[in-house]
Amino acid sequence: MLVAPSMLSSNFGRLEDEVKNICEAGADKIHIDVMDGHFVPNLTFGPVVVQSIAKVATKPLDIHLMVQNNTFFVDLFAPLKPKYISFHIEEEKHPHRLLQHIRDLGIKSAIALNPSTPPESVEFLLDNLDMILLMSVNPGFGGQKFIPSVLEKAKRLKKLLVKKGSNALIEVDGGVNDKNIYDLKKAGVDVVVAGSYVFKNDYKKAIESLKNI
Ligand code: DX5
Ligand code: ZN
Repeated sequence: MLVAPSMLSSNFGRLEDEVKNICEAGADKIHIDVMDGHFVPNLTFGPVVVQSIAKVATKPLDIHLMVQNNTFFVDLFAPLKPKYISFHIEEEKHPHRLLQHIRDLGIKSAIALNPSTPPESVEFLLDNLDMILLMSVNPGFGGQKFIPSVLEKAKRLKKLLVKKGSNALIEVDGGVNDKNIYDLKKAGVDVVVAGSYVFKNDYKKAIESLKNI
């Protein structure tokens, strides 16, 4: 299991140390939640802040866009050379085109699905997808309760990926902790995002508890 701590739950007053510490604690990548106050009722990081994270991070960035105007935000963050950019399928008229655009920029392409969006919605995008992010809370805030129906959804998605011969990774984001990690692993999940669980505990121990299952 790969673990991507979400900086949304970090202490922004000492962001540089938080980034260094989380990288040293064994994070596989650093999850950055970009919110625009329109797609979700919250505002978070702009490119200037993410640049200061990128400067000290020793692990790749995983940018999760929760915004309207996806293409504008992809082009805004692409110069920071993240490893992944994901955008929400619910907010994109031309997901196929945007996934290709992300890959053309040399970035791995990912799409995010709200809790009620069926996994089959990505079926005809698989050739252009490196990762699918399944939300296990409603996007907008850290510290929410895990929605268990994502387990069934991950299983269905995994079957679809196998059937279609896709190597895309499955990432689950929201309310992940040591209580649901085993079920997530069993459901075929490759990567988990964890915010409050990691930042409210000893970083290293918390990350290890998610990785070593
Ligand atoms: C929610 C974000 C998540 C969130 C995860 O909109 O996409 O990445 O920060 O935080 P926890 O693990 O606290 O649910
Ligand atoms: Zn996220």
